[in-house]
Amino acid sequence: MTGSGLTVAVLGTGTMGAPMARNLLRAGFDVRVWDRTPAKAARVGVGARRASNPAQAAEGTDVVITMLTDGGAVEDVMTGPDGALSMLPSGAVWIQMGTIGVEWSDRLAGLAAVHEVTFVDAPVSGQFQARRGG
Ligand SMILES: NC(=O)c1ccc[n+]([C@@H]2O[C@H](COP(=O)([O-])OP(=O)(O)OC[C@H]3O[C@@H](n4cnc5c(N)ncnc54)[C@H](OP(=O)(O)O)[C@@H]3O)[C@@H](O)[C@H]2O)c1
Repeated sequence: MTGSGLTVAVLGTGTMGAPMARNLLRAGFDVRVWDRTPAKAARVGVGARRASNPAQAAEGTDVVITMLTDGGAVEDVMTGPDGALSMLPSGAVWIQMGTIGVEWSDRLAGLAAVHEVTFVDAPVSGQFQARRGG
């Protein structure tokens, strides 16, 4: 897989989001990161562009990934003050990867439709396992 010039914003760089962002960088994507706790976004490391809020991360991007604790957090980050949907271009892709349940997924899919954004529900299963270098 190569980045092909696509810009990806990763919102939530906790246990799961940070290594995902690093893998995207390694694959050649132009990666932006945002975390409510800025020090966590900084830990993604060299190459990732840190945004000061979700809207800034999403502005003009091709893809946004939400990797947050629960559905309420995702909704806040996407629609709250400086929420990502305010700046995400229509036609962009929103990949929701937190484990948030079917009801939240349906609700968020509806928000995406209103903003003419393609919603991909891709909740992670399994457990994080640290590996060398990654
Ligand atoms: N870890 C695993 O092995 C694993 C396995 C399968 C599925 N999952 C699922 O993957 C998702 C993420 O898990 P994780 O392990 O990466 O969790 P995590 O390390 O606790 O990270 C959660 C992220 O959500 C952010 N967040 C929480 N509430 C927020 C809010 N109200 N507004 C803005 N940001 C908020 C946190 O911000 P702060 O940094 O400021 O706290 C952090 O960036 C969860 O749905 C979890 O169930 C995890």
